[in-house]
Amino acid sequence: MQKLLVVLFTAFLSSLAAANEVAVAPAVEADGLPPLGATWLSENPYRGNPVALAIGQQAYNQACARCHGADASTNAAPAPDLRNLNRFCKRISDAELNAACRRDNDAWFAKSVRKGKIIVGVTHMPPWQGVLKQELAWAIQVFFESRAEASK
Ligand code: HEC
Repeated sequence: MQKLLVVLFTAFLSSLAAANEVAVAPAVEADGLPPLGATWLSENPYRGNPVALAIGQQAYNQACARCHGADASTNAAPAPDLRNLNRFCKRISDAELNAACRRDNDAWFAKSVRKGKIIVGVTHMPPWQGVLKQELAWAIQVFFESRAEASK
């Protein structure tokens, strides 16, 4: 019985990992956002931009929500709750260290999105490089950071 459960659970886990592993571009235009070109920046250029917030919400819900949870407002989704991504930085009161932490966090975000998460050959998240425009990626980050603020 126990063995059967282990087999079933393993099958369940691998079906989660194998399902929906293809990156599909959201049908969202980046109109109204300053264009960024092909070279990825290492920091988010759109913080505080209300256009980025609205575009980011649409793009997030089309491209990321199926794994990370609708509207970035649940921690019950199969993939990590992105509202927690910069939580370590929030605890740092020193302004300079805080800024450095946020820069690291942006670089981590961009790297995760571009390269996806492929762990020992299993695609946990597909790479978004070449599928998702960087304008949309940074707008998505603006959106889920605003959700983190709202849920405090
Ligand atoms: C097919 C499911 C899936 C989709 C779609 C998806 N992700 Fe992920 N993502 C994951 C999983 C699973 C992880 C955790 C991987 C791991 O670390 O094992 C993850 C991790 C991440 C991380 C790193 C989180 C951390 O705590 O370090 C970021 C950032 C991220 N995803 C952003 C996005 C964005 C932005 C989108 C939409 C453009 C997106 N993801 C779409 C499944 C997905």
